[in-house]
Amino acid sequence: MPNRLTMPIGEAMFSQRAIRRLKPDPIKEEDIRLMIEAAQKAPNGGNNQPGRFFVMNDPAIISEFGKLYHEAWWAKRKDEGFNSAEDFPKEHKTHFYAMKLADEIKDAPLIILACAIKAGVDNSVFPPVQNLLLAARALGIGSTLTTLHATVMERVHKLTGIPEDVKIYCCIPMGYPRGNFGPTKRLPSREITFFNQWGTAPPWS
Ligand SMILES: Cc1cc2nc3c(=O)[nH]c(=O)nc-3n(C[C@H](O)[C@H](O)[C@H](O)COP(=O)(O)O)c2cc1C
Repeated sequence: MPNRLTMPIGEAMFSQRAIRRLKPDPIKEEDIRLMIEAAQKAPNGGNNQPGRFFVMNDPAIISEFGKLYHEAWWAKRKDEGFNSAEDFPKEHKTHFYAMKLADEIKDAPLIILACAIKAGVDNSVFPPVQNLLLAARALGIGSTLTTLHATVMERVHKLTGIPEDVKIYCCIPMGYPRGNFGPTKRLPSREITFFNQWGTAPPWS
């Protein structure tokens, strides 16, 4: 058992949140390894372990990838009908924060793409991804789960050498935070939980 992942699991889970403002300081290779080894321990269908992690810590590739990420992020917004920041509803704060990440990701010290050697196995990729995020939190490393967009995928495969038949599920920029971890805002558990029959509130409501 790695003795550096000693943060109580509750503390990690309750303070892990999207950290989009990152310091440029490099992440040690031993920490990258530890996060991936924690990710590997997650459940996956039949223990077939289709997940693969593609790690970018070379500023040259991150800078190139950053341009594609920026384009992908705006392609997603255009799909939603937003052509510029002026179009975002003021209350939709996440778009403003995420836009800043799209501008700054080119300077992130570490980006991990969670992939799988075949498509259709997202349910075997995201449990490892969540372990990765929690292990990062325990090491004081900030992260955000993000996705890319079809318009850039061919160029992402070309840039990274990831074969076309390897599916890229998500993109996780990481780094030491400028800002703080948690707490996060979520719905009360009584609103998202039903007991025995759909619509029956839990005993704690
Ligand atoms: C499937 C998925 C896609 C996401 N895509 C993006 C993204 O493209 N850009 C981004 O900045 N955050 C992205 N996020 C992060 C969410 O915005 C974030 O988890 C959510 O707002 C809760 O934030 P919090 O944990 O800081 O409270 C994504 C999260 C998930 C699960």
